[in-house]
Amino acid sequence: MDLSGRCVLLTGGSRGIGPVIAEALARRGAHLALTARSEEGLHRTLDALRPHGVRTIAIPADLAHAAERERVVARVLDEFGRVDVLLNNAGLETEGAFVELPWERLAETIEVNLTAPVHLTHLLLPQMLTRSQGHVVHVSSLAGKAAIPYAAMYSGTKAALARWSDGLRREIGASGVRISTVFPGFVTEQGMFARSGMQPPRLLGSCTPAQVAAAVVEAIESGRSEVVVNSLPVRPVVALGELFPSFADWALRRLGVTELQRRKVGAPPP
Ligand SMILES: NC(=O)c1ccc[n+]([C@@H]2O[C@H](COP(=O)([O-])OP(=O)(O)OC[C@H]3O[C@@H](n4cnc5c(N)ncnc54)[C@H](OP(=O)(O)O)[C@@H]3O)[C@@H](O)[C@H]2O)c1
Repeated sequence: MDLSGRCVLLTGGSRGIGPVIAEALARRGAHLALTARSEEGLHRTLDALRPHGVRTIAIPADLAHAAERERVVARVLDEFGRVDVLLNNAGLETEGAFVELPWERLAETIEVNLTAPVHLTHLLLPQMLTRSQGHVVHVSSLAGKAAIPYAAMYSGTKAALARWSDGLRREIGASGVRISTVFPGFVTEQGMFARSGMQPPRLLGSCTPAQVAAAVVEAIESGRSEVVVNSLPVRPVVALGELFPSFADWALRRLGVTELQRRKVGAPPP
């Protein structure tokens, strides 16, 4: 899909990777509706997009609530008349020992990371199918391919998002509507991992927000169903881990991910 003149609904547009993706899309001439809870953050992003001369709107909303998601879709359709690209980027980082995390936080994580993308797709896909054109892009995570400790719920939502998306893509087949999932590794500079102030394990690699944005653009322009964004080729390790879960347990310990996560959440040594 050529992005010029397309209408994009991007979630998570207030901070982190979202504004960088928004700018990459605006540079290609896409019109952007941005949503997130922070009105201030959304307007900061819109200000940065102004030089690109594309149409933009900010729709502050809490995606943890179904009525809010419906309001976002109604508003963007009212403003743009259609959505060509739905970009499910908003995510809630939930880390800590699973048993110590309050149920409300776990439920919110499922709602924002999984239910919201499913619901927004359910609301917008029928119109894309009618036009035989459109693209839904999800921002998952490498944690959705190899689930990490002290972020089990987060990893689970990212894995479910990807598997649901695979099934849906096979279901709609040659309808003309594309579905892609982008899997970033540890993202440096901005976003949830960068805020921790920790360094990614050396043997696992990392990526920048600009590389994630480039991967999103590539997914839309090429129609690729899956893009992994990481400086090192981790696919073989991930594939082996899927075949042999105990190998994944060992590899995550050996590569320093288990220890990094433990230190990140301040859990006691095993
Ligand atoms: N950073 C990484 O290392 C990394 C790695 C792999 C994958 N990812 C994925 O990349 C995506 C973006 O991550 P990021 O690093 O940019 O995270 P971030 O800096 O924490 O930003 C998260 C975005 O989601 C929005 N959001 C969170 N809860 C929301 C809610 N209830 N309703 C509406 N919007 C909500 C936030 O806006 P408000 O707070 O204003 O609502 C913000 O715009 C996420 O899906 C994340 O899982 C990130």
